[in-house]
Amino acid sequence: MLRTFFVKLSENRTIRDFAERSAVGQRLSSRFVAGTSIQDAVSATQSVNKLGMHVSLDNLGENVTNAEEARHSALLYEQILDEINRLHLDANVSVKLTHMGFDVDENVARDIVGSLVAKAAAMQPMNFVRVDMEGSPYTQRTLDLVHNLHGLPANQGCVGAVIQAYLFRSEKDIEDLLAKGIRIRLCKGAYKEASDIAFQQKSEVDENYIKLTKILMKSGVYHGLATHDENIIRQTVAFAQAEKIAPSSFEFQMLHGIRRDLQQKLVRDGWNVRVYIPFGTEWYPYFMRRLGERPANALFVVKNLFR
Ligand code: FDA
Repeated sequence: MLRTFFVKLSENRTIRDFAERSAVGQRLSSRFVAGTSIQDAVSATQSVNKLGMHVSLDNLGENVTNAEEARHSALLYEQILDEINRLHLDANVSVKLTHMGFDVDENVARDIVGSLVAKAAAMQPMNFVRVDMEGSPYTQRTLDLVHNLHGLPANQGCVGAVIQAYLFRSEKDIEDLLAKGIRIRLCKGAYKEASDIAFQQKSEVDENYIKLTKILMKSGVYHGLATHDENIIRQTVAFAQAEKIAPSSFEFQMLHGIRRDLQQKLVRDGWNVRVYIPFGTEWYPYFMRRLGERPANALFVVKNLFR
């Protein structure tokens, strides 16, 4: 119920415009968003790197409405890659296709993301572009784009996909991606999906997540397991130990500002951890999805509002 409410709120343009411009909104979102500028993102990355963790930087934004906006978003990503290189940051980037103009013109988005992946591939050391997964209307088209980009020999290993464990189709999608050696981030899924295509119960999503995790861990390809779910993480660690899967062959991924204690515990225990750091002026939809995931977050925000 609460999650549906916040996902709906995340799509409301009027509230979004108001919130993103207000100083109060920016202050409240700071728990999950590193700031609005590239400099904020760099500072947050340096702090996380110092704690022994990798980073994926996400310049927040989705559903741009014209090609110019999309090109502007892409320029920011080019600058981020340059900063990663210049400052020797341990970081890659995550992009959303609707932020790169997917809804405006698929060819524009394909060109933009293609250029970013080519830039990442040409960097020394090579970098990596993760294509985030959005709602189900985009699933097939997003996977097609990742397959195409990975198919160019110079790009191999520099572009990856995201699979959502709540979708029934995910096991087959994983099979197709693994057949090409494409790196996968596995998450539970953050959107509201219908019961004819997605598991609705948390227990079913969790069960599928664990099943898919085991497939990924046995695949020999380097993957990211994106979850804060302690129970799933415990089972993953036990599986890795039982199957003698090297800690260097996969990574846990968590969001900036969420379960920092668990992130650090995993590092201390010798596991790879990557923190997803979002930044930028268009933080509202991301922030609303995070609130919907946990009632305590909404409570925290309301308390701060009145403080
Ligand atoms: P779940 O929601 O079951 O939570 C398990 C526990 O984690 C909670 O009990 C709580 O302790 C903690 N927790 C989870 N969310 C929290 C929050 N917001 N605040 C505080 N504590 C919280 N989704 C998607 O559809 N496409 C994508 O591309 C991505 N990308 C992505 C990258 C990374 C690095 C992560 C970690 C997640 C994503 N997601 C995503 C989001 C993902 O699908 C999912 O919505 C959230 O990670 C929450 O699910 P959990 O696996 O954490 O489990």
